[in-house]
Amino acid sequence: MITRIDHLGIAVQSLDEAIPYYENVLGLTCEGREEVESQKVRTAFFAAGEVHLELLEPTSPDSPIARFLEKNPSGGIHHIAFATDDINGQLAHAKDQGARLVHEVPFEGAAGKLVAFLHPKSTFGVLTEFCMPALPH
Ligand code: CO
Repeated sequence: MITRIDHLGIAVQSLDEAIPYYENVLGLTCEGREEVESQKVRTAFFAAGEVHLELLEPTSPDSPIARFLEKNPSGGIHHIAFATDDINGQLAHAKDQGARLVHEVPFEGAAGKLVAFLHPKSTFGVLTEFCMPALPH
């Protein structure tokens, strides 16, 4: 079951250039920065109430975010992430209903969460992430 919107992923050319906008203009607090090697990105998280913003800066030219920025040089909203209490069930259900999965198997994303994506060609243009807090090891 989807429980809420967890975060919006926002592609930026540079975290260092974008973070002051979120801090100074919007008055939000950066909750942390993290490199996610599996996605070839550096992230910075902000809380806006219950919903977080995940700024994404590519660490490599073949990062998915680098490819997004080639098409959208100013940056922009890259994905919407829904929190789910059962990511495998959510993926199986989406597949049953005809959605195309980018990842059949969830992987560890930022903040130790298990994440997986649905392809935007099957979601009316919105890259869609499911995320679930990882079980304690
Ligand atoms: Co995300």
